[in-house]
Amino acid sequence: MKTRRRIVAANWKMSFSATEVRSYIPKFLRSTKSLYQNDIIIFGQALYLDVLQTELQKSRVQVGAQNCHFELEGAFTGENSPQTLAMMQIPYVLVGHSERRHIFKESNDDIMKKVRTLHRLNITPVICVGETQEQRKNNQTEQIIVDQLDSALSNADPNKPFIVAYEPVWAIGTGQVATPEQAQTAHLILRKALALKRRESVSILYGGSVKPENSTALAASEDIDGFLVGGASLIPENFAQICNITLSLE
Ligand code: PGA
Repeated sequence: MKTRRRIVAANWKMSFSATEVRSYIPKFLRSTKSLYQNDIIIFGQALYLDVLQTELQKSRVQVGAQNCHFELEGAFTGENSPQTLAMMQIPYVLVGHSERRHIFKESNDDIMKKVRTLHRLNITPVICVGETQEQRKNNQTEQIIVDQLDSALSNADPNKPFIVAYEPVWAIGTGQVATPEQAQTAHLILRKALALKRRESVSILYGGSVKPENSTALAASEDIDGFLVGGASLIPENFAQICNITLSLE
């Protein structure tokens, strides 16, 4: 039996309006066993996080934000203030998603600062790491993901919680899922890096083209504690199926 917490999270990216959120949530809750709800996080757009909170009020499903600035507040037009997220009682924020790193050019340094700020506010960061196709071909996977993890944690409070998501860039939104062996190898590398920091009990999620059909084999791997699901989380019954499969395992 695993001692680490199993967690399944949805990353909705720029999908859905408030009206669509109101239609999604009842369908999702009907298909999900309530026992598991506390271990499910939905990362929605900042524009309707309050709607998500209202819709999920009677459940124990958690609400997360997809990004925030590293400063608490200030003149940063268009950014999400972590202080406002804390006032809204948002418990989780995604940090360093590959789309933030690659499209918005976030550096390891930005990510380190975000982790530090979120910890100050007692918000749990979900730290995303992952190599590109080219880095994998050049046998740099281990170096890249350990560097990303070490750097994100380099200024972190050693007693504050966090979650890690291993998301190989080549598997995100491509339909090209990592094999259970590829994912397990990367997760074990991250597990060892965490053990060096005495953080063995941190959950490591896999993300990148997870679907109900491939989630069983991936979830059976020793060091895969759950998933961060993009595309497949947009259909409530599919996301519920991934949650039910993963969270029912010992
Ligand atoms: P995907 O996205 O499941 O659509 O590949 C995962 C993610 O970007 O977190």
